[in-house]
Amino acid sequence: MRIEAARASDLAGIRWLLEYEYLPSEDVTEQLLDHFLVCRDEKGVVGAVALEPCGKHVLLRSLVVTAELRGERLGSRLAQAAEVLAERRGSKAIYLLTTTAEKFFAARGYRAVPRTEAPLQIQGSSQFSRLCPSTAVLMVKP
Ligand SMILES: CC(C)(COP(=O)(O)OP(=O)(O)OC[C@H]1O[C@@H](n2cnc3c(N)ncnc32)[C@H](O)[C@@H]1OP(=O)(O)O)[C@@H](O)C(=O)NCCC(=O)NCCS
Repeated sequence: MRIEAARASDLAGIRWLLEYEYLPSEDVTEQLLDHFLVCRDEKGVVGAVALEPCGKHVLLRSLVVTAELRGERLGSRLAQAAEVLAERRGSKAIYLLTTTAEKFFAARGYRAVPRTEAPLQIQGSSQFSRLCPSTAVLMVKP
């Protein structure tokens, strides 16, 4: 299954996947779509991830795989594709917030850091400032 840049027609499918998992979707707009990678099958979007630019930093967010396809490495491949993108953009570190997948990311080289250590641009993102609960763990790689 190929990982590709998202298109306008993927917006509803991405939002549906996120909403189904109770992940923030209200700021997933056409503008943010430019920063999404997706996997599709014949029915539509089955996996997604975004790399949101926050000043000179990047926030990996909205990683989701449809329940039927979990455990087949799609989540790992999406995370890796986002990391390749981050490297191409010259980002030195990738930040993320999670309430559900700390172990998944820890197994992929991310470490938890105090939220107070987030760069200001990351703190200013809608995920950090409004949409993710204050209990969400901040992680960074490397
Ligand atoms: C997290 C998620 C994207 C992983 O997708 P996936 O395609 O199943 O992942 P992979 O097949 O690449 O990896 C599976 C491995 O990760 C582990 N894993 C999957 N989800 C996990 C989670 N939430 N917490 C801890 N470990 C997890 C599996 O146990 C498996 O471990 P193994 O390799 O030791 O057997 C998927 O479970 C998902 O969409 N979850 C709901 C949305 C979510 O929580 N997203 C994270 C937002 S920050």
